[in-house]
Amino acid sequence: MNEIYFNELEVLMKSKIRMVREEFEEKIKNKSMEQLKEIEKYFLGRRGKVALLFQDMKGVSADNKKSIGAEINDLKKYIKASISVSIKQGEIEKHERKLFKEKIDITVPGIKLQNGFLHVLSQTELEVEKIFLSMGFDIMTGPEIEEEHYNFEALNIPEFHPARDMQDTFYLLNKFLLRTQTSPIQIRTMEKYKPPIRIIAIGRCYRKDPPDQHHFPIFHQVEGLVVDKNINFANLKATLSQFTKRMFGNDVEVRFNPSYFPFVEPGAETSINFGGWLEMGGSGMIHPNVLKNVGIDPEKYQGFAFGWGIERIAMVKYNIPDIRLFYRNDLRFLNQFNGR
Ligand code: PHE
Repeated sequence: MNEIYFNELEVLMKSKIRMVREEFEEKIKNKSMEQLKEIEKYFLGRRGKVALLFQDMKGVSADNKKSIGAEINDLKKYIKASISVSIKQGEIEKHERKLFKEKIDITVPGIKLQNGFLHVLSQTELEVEKIFLSMGFDIMTGPEIEEEHYNFEALNIPEFHPARDMQDTFYLLNKFLLRTQTSPIQIRTMEKYKPPIRIIAIGRCYRKDPPDQHHFPIFHQVEGLVVDKNINFANLKATLSQFTKRMFGNDVEVRFNPSYFPFVEPGAETSINFGGWLEMGGSGMIHPNVLKNVGIDPEKYQGFAFGWGIERIAMVKYNIPDIRLFYRNDLRFLNQFNGR
């Protein structure tokens, strides 16, 4: 009777142990790290499934206690080992996922960077500079925010002079303005250096011109200034004609038409014949008043000056029909000047 009772209890214990093992095997599949920790507590904790099995052993006979206890211990070891293997596995997978995300495939074709290139106006400026440098000119610069004095008065254009009408611009406080021409650099140069002077100055100018095919409120000029003894109009003609041939070709000629600029006398509009006469800018012999104003004796020294539009030069050279194209940043236009 006793034997049967104990046998039954033993059988019951064995089936309980088996059920715990099955439950564990079911639970441990595909679990995250956090879930594995939970499972460990659920089975091996102080009140966990395994601890309960040990408690249930109380009624088991001393004879059977050893074998059943050993079985529960095996289960405990098995659960412990399985969980630690799963945790290891999880860590390895996590590491592999990280490595996979970080991996660099050196066989993937690179992204080609597009090289920048100089704007067609900058290219034109460099070309102009190159030609004049080879002719012995130096390069000067001046401020775009200029004093009214340099932009007008010192150039023999007093306040209320009608010549200012054509060069209305953006006025700032305290008699500063956005320069309307590069000619103020003539004055700045003559104030700073004694003759002989032979310079060009390229820069941005501003006028209150509504944009159209030939006008834009921002544009660029190249100013030329030569002051020395015995400088005459023939020197001016030779210089501009030499520049023209170098820039546009040997068969291109310059024409001088009488014109008025208060800071030169005589003054001339200059055009080139490049499939018809095209106006490039102004020129002339430095007015004696201008020389006197900067302390150069006009009896001893003479000079000539010219101011040509950089946009004009580029439009003629590259057959560009509209000045606004320079400022639209349309790559279909700009890319035509890549790699020149
Ligand atoms: N600065 C004049 C203009 O912008 C051009 C010029 C320059 C004329 C030098 C004569 C001498 O219209």
